[in-house]
This record gives sequence, C-alpha cells and structure tokens, in this order.
Amino acid sequence: MSVFGTTRDGLNRALRHFGVQVVRGHSDDPAIQPFLSARKTLTAARRAGISVEDYIDRYSAAPGATAESVDALLRLADLGEHVERVCEIGAGSGRYAARVIAATHPGTYEIYETAADWLPRLRSLPNAAVRPTDGHTLSATATESVDLVHAHKLFVYIPLVVAIGYIDEMARVVRPGGTVAFDVVNEDCLDDAMTKHWVSSRATIYGMISRSWLLDRLAQRGLSLLGGHFVPLSGGRTELLVFRRA
Ligand SMILES: C[S@@+](CC[C@H](N)C(=O)[O-])C[C@H]1O[C@@H](n2cnc3c(N)ncnc32)[C@H](O)[C@@H]1O
Repeated sequence: MSVFGTTRDGLNRALRHFGVQVVRGHSDDPAIQPFLSARKTLTAARRAGISVEDYIDRYSAAPGATAESVDALLRLADLGEHVERVCEIGAGSGRYAARVIAATHPGTYEIYETAADWLPRLRSLPNAAVRPTDGHTLSATATESVDLVHAHKLFVYIPLVVAIGYIDEMARVVRPGGTVAFDVVNEDCLDDAMTKHWVSSRATIYGMISRSWLLDRLAQRGLSLLGGHFVPLSGGRTELLVFRRA
C-alpha cells in the first residue's frame, strides 16, 4: 500500500467516530476536502439493506441525526410547504437535500459539491441544479436570489478562511426575509469531553469558530439569529445556527 494509503487508513480509523472519512481527492486546493467514497458508501448501505441516510447516520454513531437536524432547521426557519429556490453547499450524499426537498418542494435546488462521484446521485434529486463548484464561492448564484441557503458538516472541517468566505457568500445570495443555516463547532460545543476525544483521536482536521464572532459578522450583513440546535458529531456535537435576513 502507498504511503498515502497507509496514512489515510490510519487517519480514517481515528476519524470513524466523527462520521468523516478521507478518500483520494481530485484537487490540491486545501479548500476542497474529500468525503466518503460514493461507490463504497452506496454499496455498504445496499448490503446493509438500509437507506444511505440511515447508513451515514449509523456510521456516524448518530441514528436519526439527519432527520432531527432538518426538522430543527424547518421549525426555526418556518419555511412553509413551498419555497422557490434553495441552495446547499457540500451536499455529499444528498441526505439533507432529500429531506428539505420533500418538505419544501423548491422550484430549484442549487447544489455546490466538489466530490464528482456524488454528483450523479445529487443530479437525480427533484429540481436539482448542480452548479460549477470552485470550492470557495457561490459564483453561479445571483445576489439576493435564494429563500434558503444551507450547509451541514462542512464548516467543521474545511479551513477557517474558506468557511468564512462561504458564509459571506451565503449572506450575499440569500434574499431579504430568507434563511441561512449551517453548523459549526463553537465554544458551546467544545466541552472537556469533546476536546479530550479530539486530542486522543488526533482529529486534526477539525476546527472551532467563535459563536459570538460569527453572530456579529452575520449581524453586520443583516442576518439575525433565529435559534440554534445541537447536532451530534460522534464524540461531541456541532451547533446548527439558523439566521433570518432582514
Ligand atoms: C463531511 S461532508 C458532509 C456531507 C453532507 N453535508 C452530510 O452531512 O452528509 C462535506 C461535503 O462537502 C464537500 N466539500 C468539501 N470541501 C468543499 C468545498 N470547499 N466546497 C464545496 N463542497 C465541499 C465534500 O465533498 C462533502 O460532500
């Protein structure tokens, strides 16, 4: 096995409990962080006789977590049964997309995703529009055009500056009255147990963002917090933050 393969497998053993896995990437850009292999994940879910959502929830030691997060988002945002346009960054397997689409029946569901192997599955979602993804921006989305822009388990492991750039982009594309939602690890998540887990499992890819700093930055862009909801990240938790644009 190559040095990359040996290192990757060791890292993956450590990361398994966080629900994230490193796979061979297609880019040297540090902004673009690979995810679970689509082929392996879909095969494993099929063999287990369960949906991909259930498989990833179970793999992450958090059964029911996807449904719980989407329910919290919909409850806090109060979106109703139809929205015109939704945008998701880092949709991966599409487990959140499928639930949001089923609940809000958007006319267009824009997707930014850097992992090419998941795109066929994402393209098959109702009204999905996969956008060219440079790993940093929402350049194919017009300013003030979307009702909801969201991201899950992405800003916990991409470089801080890339996450901030995306959050600024979310503030740009959301329409007045629209919703921005994403989860991060902040100071309310990173308690002693989680910190110990990170250190002992050498989970070097994760990072924390200050909650108050984020709230101030978003407030400067006209976004106020509707509420937060803790989401399991095995070995700890993230906080899903939901904002409304004035
Ligand atoms: C940890 S996974 C989470 C996937 C999905 N949101 C979920 O929770 O199941 C992060 C996803 O973001 C994608 N990704 C990584 N870096 C990205 C970037 N810079 N821009 C857009 N997507 C990215 C990965 O390919 C992966 O699908």
